[in-house]
Amino acid sequence: MACRSEEELQSLVDDAKKVYFEGKVANYIPALQRESPDYLSCAIAYPDGNCISAGDIKKQFTLQSISKIITLALVLIDFGPEHVFHRVGMEPTGDPFNSIIKLETSSKAKPLNPMINAGALAVTSMIKGRNAGEKVEYIIDFVKKLTNESDIDYCEEVAISEFTTSFLNRSLCYYMKGDGVIHGNVEEIMEVYTKQCAIRMNCLQLARVGLIFSMDGVSPYTGEQIIPKDIARICKTFMVTCGMYNASGEFAIKIGIPAKSGVSGGIMGSVPDRMGIGIFGPALNEVGNSHTGMKLLELLQKKFDLSMF
Ligand code: DON
Repeated sequence: MACRSEEELQSLVDDAKKVYFEGKVANYIPALQRESPDYLSCAIAYPDGNCISAGDIKKQFTLQSISKIITLALVLIDFGPEHVFHRVGMEPTGDPFNSIIKLETSSKAKPLNPMINAGALAVTSMIKGRNAGEKVEYIIDFVKKLTNESDIDYCEEVAISEFTTSFLNRSLCYYMKGDGVIHGNVEEIMEVYTKQCAIRMNCLQLARVGLIFSMDGVSPYTGEQIIPKDIARICKTFMVTCGMYNASGEFAIKIGIPAKSGVSGGIMGSVPDRMGIGIFGPALNEVGNSHTGMKLLELLQKKFDLSMF
């Protein structure tokens, strides 16, 4: 069974919103802190091309860490798993998303997985292009294909806000560069990374990207295999094991779908063969996942039996 009615979805959104005061809007990237904690919207995209939504689906937000799954897919397409996993691992960390600790305690500063910041920065360092501008354009072109829309861009203000304050991510880069895990100019990697994180979308566009992963990489809109099936499978597996950071185990038990969160409050869900989900709820829990978004997914799982397990 699947939620097909907007009234039903709206009523679940209204219920989930009630816990907004338990969460907090991210403020370590200064430009993100303006969002209202009680905002919550959701869209669901189905393989037959239909979509339903609740809340203001025109409202845009930045992808932040959700972009990590998109750049991972891109480098896997361009270079293949062997090359990529030589530089970044496949294991969950149990640590916060921006932690440096495992880089220091493992023998080489190879990040444990591509969903934590260190791993995502290593992935970004592999993006094709002669300079930062070309690399960002290359990522955005891929996002245009995934959303089947041509007006995708990044938010300059959010990108600059992170670029000028992101000293911890710079440290992660220098640490990895010191160990030869990444190469290239750290400022350029930071420019590309902060711009990819600042790519803007609304819930409906995010649900469409989630749907492509649920459909093994095939776009339901054009029939094109945008991501090879095996790479879509690798991405979904990372979403299950590491997509919600050090809350991924609890998320797998309570909700049980491949999902990826971002500190702006976005969550992308991919229910295999069934639906893509896009959520925006800026009030975050203590590990940096959308608090109201998690509540909404729990309600959706209970009502429509979404779990893969
Ligand atoms: O690198 C950062 O800290 C942010 N641009 C992205 C982190 C993030 O979204 C973590 N997500 N829950």
